[in-house]
Amino acid sequence: MRVLVTRSIAEEGMTLLQEAGLEIDLWEEEGPIPTDTLRARAASCQGVLSMLTDPIDAALLDAGPIRAVAQHAVGVDNIDLAACSARGVGVSHTPGVLTAATADLAMALLLGVGRRLREGDALVRGGGFLGWAPTLLRGVDLEGARLGIVGWGRIGKAVARRAEAFGMEVVHHSRSSGIPLDTLLGTSDVVSLHCPLTADTRHLLDAAALGRMKPGALLINTARGPVVDEAALVDALDSGHLGGAGLDVYEDEPAVHPGLLGRDDVLLMPHLGSATWGTRRRMARMAAGDLIAMLGGHPAAHPVPLPA
Ligand code: DGY
Repeated sequence: MRVLVTRSIAEEGMTLLQEAGLEIDLWEEEGPIPTDTLRARAASCQGVLSMLTDPIDAALLDAGPIRAVAQHAVGVDNIDLAACSARGVGVSHTPGVLTAATADLAMALLLGVGRRLREGDALVRGGGFLGWAPTLLRGVDLEGARLGIVGWGRIGKAVARRAEAFGMEVVHHSRSSGIPLDTLLGTSDVVSLHCPLTADTRHLLDAAALGRMKPGALLINTARGPVVDEAALVDALDSGHLGGAGLDVYEDEPAVHPGLLGRDDVLLMPHLGSATWGTRRRMARMAAGDLIAMLGGHPAAHPVPLPA
């Protein structure tokens, strides 16, 4: 059986696929595999080990004998789950193993924006540091500040534990628990997003929602870019309504709204939430193991529930 691995992954995952006797077609070039190449190469494969950058849609599934898709990510918004379900294609993902790494990055962004690390670093490197000064680059007091977490899954809860250790008061909003979104937005000093991207959460933070945030509040997004209306975020920063933003994800990755690029009050990361050595090893092993299981006619250990 033949599998398409759409990006170089940690060696451990490749070894599992090889040991299972699978023939591997690996996309090794820089950047995500172009969609037409993805479809063309998937057409001769039974399985795909996919990345969040790969559109897995009906056209791809209809092009060949695909039976299983193992996503090397927890988010699966790039996969047409209804199309997979209709064709009997199994889907797995990598929950749990990237919780700590992503929560750590959310805290890094929160601390980085709140304490102005970007400006401080630039000042020192640029030779502008003239010695300690009582008014230099004052930031946000985290102790006692309120953190509003949107999305109360594994990662949201892991961020809450970390923020509580910094003395922050944590509130949350999700579909099934917590406080109303408007209350969270209107009372939080920092809002951190940890919900999946769905039809319901696309532009959840639009101009109106951003306008309801507390003046001077910070926005952290390590979830998915389209949860935020990026143009509206730029407006909210330009007007001074928001105090800053820490972003790991963008509405139209890898493009970034030009209005964000020149700002000192935003910290911009290239989608690094799960990018630690150990996490990427675990993700690779998990995705490879599930692909092998599904192609062998067994259930994946980490299945994505498919619509009926
Ligand atoms: C995920 O798993 O969804 C992350 O965004 C990958 O880093």
